[in-house]
Amino acid sequence: MNKIFAGLVAAIVFSAGVAAAAESPATITFDTKNGKVTFPHKAHQDRFKGDCTKCHADKTGGKIAGWSKDKAHGLCRKCHQTEKKGPTKCVDCHKK
Ligand code: HEC
Ligand code: HEC
Ligand code: HEC
Repeated sequence: MNKIFAGLVAAIVFSAGVAAAAESPATITFDTKNGKVTFPHKAHQDRFKGDCTKCHADKTGGKIAGWSKDKAHGLCRKCHQTEKKGPTKCVDCHKK
């Protein structure tokens, strides 16, 4: 009985750990018709010292409402232009 209980607890802890890891991907790839855009998500999280609200509505992160080409360019490209760092040319983000 104890063994079964311990196994159950382990299973819950394990699946929770896996879910958390899968939720915040290290890299996100956007497959667009102009070529693949590889977004180093983890590097950006570290860059902004865990300030998720640079891009997300709150610190939980997750899908960004109304994610689209305009939203992406307004977020990614605009910040790179403002900061004068990171890719701003089409081909530096979109790789065929
Ligand atoms: C520089 C911008 C940026 C920062 C900073 C950032 N994220 Fe994200 N994150 C994104 C983008 C873009 C997506 C993809 C959104 C979409 O597909 O709707 C995303 C997706 C996610 C997802 C969902 C993945 C999925 O497919 O379901 C989670 C969870 C997440 N981010 C968590 C975080 C957390 C937690 C932080 C802070 C520690 C953070 N993010 C910081 C841009 C960022
Ligand atoms: C709030 C500002 C900000 C946002 C939003 C942002 N970036 Fe960046 N990005 C940066 C900065 C700063 C760098 C650092 C460049 C350096 O250090 O040379 C960078 C670098 C990069 C690099 C070069 C590799 C690296 O990690 O240095 C890629 C690729 C990149 N960003 C893609 C994206 C994409 C795609 C998005 C949107 C999904 C995005 N970025 C959103 C600020 C931002
Ligand atoms: C900083 C990175 C970045 C730069 C620079 C950039 N894009 Fe994008 N672009 C993205 C991302 C991320 C998406 C994906 C949005 C999505 O998932 O819907 C996107 C989406 C698109 C789409 C929509 C494709 C589709 O399949 O719906 C087009 C078209 C596009 N970009 C063209 C351009 C052109 C042209 C330029 C140069 C003037 C450019 N992009 C510069 C990151 C970038």
